[in-house]
Amino acid sequence: DELRSMVIAIDGPAGAGKSTVARAVARRLGLRYLDTGAMYRAVTLWVLRNGVSLTDERAVSAAARHVVDILDLALAPDHPAVRLDGVDVTDAVRGPEVTQAVSAVSAVPEVRSVLVGRQRELIGDGGIVVEGRDIGTTVWPTAAVKIFLTADSRVRAARRHADTVAARGTTDVDDVHDDLRRRDQLDQSRAASPLTAAADAVVLDSTDLDVDAVLDRILSLVAERLGSG
Ligand code: DC
Repeated sequence: DELRSMVIAIDGPAGAGKSTVARAVARRLGLRYLDTGAMYRAVTLWVLRNGVSLTDERAVSAAARHVVDILDLALAPDHPAVRLDGVDVTDAVRGPEVTQAVSAVSAVPEVRSVLVGRQRELIGDGGIVVEGRDIGTTVWPTAAVKIFLTADSRVRAARRHADTVAARGTTDVDDVHDDLRRRDQLDQSRAASPLTAAADAVVLDSTDLDVDAVLDRILSLVAERLGSG
């Protein structure tokens, strides 16, 4: 049916709550879930582990072409595992070194075209929630539902900080805020499909909304689209 072929795009800056919300939407609707950020992170991890210079665009592009061959993403909202050559790197791709370097890698145009190609293959006939920065603008402009999820940068930093404290001890919330602003700046200013809301995206500001409220808004948008489609 219509839901089985629907593509729901959820874009927005770091720390806006995209992953939590996208996974919840997929779970509620019984759809697949694709985290495109994990793909840029997997390329970055491979680049760092193999001593590729971040400023060598040709080498970084070659790394991306290699990584798509050895990358396996589980499109399950409950266990979105990432494997490289069969080895689980789900946690490794979220490490601080990768987070620090991923904006540079994702700014390389050929890295983007390689990964966008794979993303389109994975989306295939739809029935999927896709999270990223450029899904509604570039990867799948015909998505039936496009959300641009954002929040005040202080609030996003506080949420990220809470996550990192839970995962690996204390960090400074101001450092998290600085890092997030730096990534926003890089993601918004790169030449190749910068982070920006699609003209037809519904902008949701989660500064004063909790996860359930955001989830409700998205589920009612999906219901509207199904009704009108
Ligand atoms: O969502 P995330 O923090 O895992 O994303 C990691 C980085 O990857 C982010 O800084 C920008 C980049 N990215 C991108 O350029 N395009 C996407 N569709 C997803 C992520």
